[in-house]
Amino acid sequence: MNTKNTLSVCLFPAAGYGTRFLPATKAMPKEMLPILTKPLIQYGVEEAMEAGMNTMAIVTGRGKRAIEDHFDISYELEQQIKGTSKEKMLYGVRHIIDQCTFSYTRQIEMKGLGHAILTGETLIGEQPFAVVLADDLCVNESEGVLTQMVKLYQQYHCSIVAIEAIDPSKTHQYGVIAGEMIEEGIYRVTTMVEKPSPSDAPSNLAIIGRYILTPDIFDILRETSPGKGGEIQITDALMEQAKQGKVIAYQFKGKRYDCGSIDGYVQATMELYQQEKSQ
Ligand code: G1P
Repeated sequence: MNTKNTLSVCLFPAAGYGTRFLPATKAMPKEMLPILTKPLIQYGVEEAMEAGMNTMAIVTGRGKRAIEDHFDISYELEQQIKGTSKEKMLYGVRHIIDQCTFSYTRQIEMKGLGHAILTGETLIGEQPFAVVLADDLCVNESEGVLTQMVKLYQQYHCSIVAIEAIDPSKTHQYGVIAGEMIEEGIYRVTTMVEKPSPSDAPSNLAIIGRYILTPDIFDILRETSPGKGGEIQITDALMEQAKQGKVIAYQFKGKRYDCGSIDGYVQATMELYQQEKSQ
């Protein structure tokens, strides 16, 4: 059992098909879609590293080998561009490979996010860990969202979900929470519902793709019945922890782009491009 205050492992569920981006995602993992020159998953890995994590646990599926190849050395390519101006374009990913360990397991059947996280248990064991859904790209001028959440974990030692206030008509796209505000932007969760219709939603505070989970979540997930869409939902498992007062929701500082949708993906591309141009 990891009793340290720091977290070392970040889990990336990355088995989904990415059907909204077909045909681009027919043979390429959606996590490898680039925003400018970097694939989405690399942004997530960099955010986890900034938060002090050095073990990246990735739950993949069929057709996802490009993710493993990306976080590996490419001898031929590196040899080819050695000494040219292109070499520096690989510094970022090379730094990641030098600093982090990557481990992989495959989710054989798509049975939901809760099931994907449970599949990752073998890579994590008995320690608290972070979860990043790479298609939620989060940026912040100062600390990244996971860094902010790790600090909160050091204070509360329980599961934490990142939330943002959304347009109430969009609750059916998210896990939605309600809770008691204990500090500005920090709630102790009392209710959480997966993708409620606007009329059933307990609030407009939506969970986005950043979690810190305590390892008892695995036993809970094993007992969690299929919920919304017939899938095993992490939201339902977290509700069991919330009943014990053990889930915090955190309105993070920064901006999230829903890169699982064309609109969010294009917006992220345009805004990051503008930022890069203005530097
Ligand atoms: C998942 C979760 C949902 C959460 C969302 C954040 O849904 O099930 O609770 O709000 O991620 O992106 P998905 O987007 O995978 O359907």
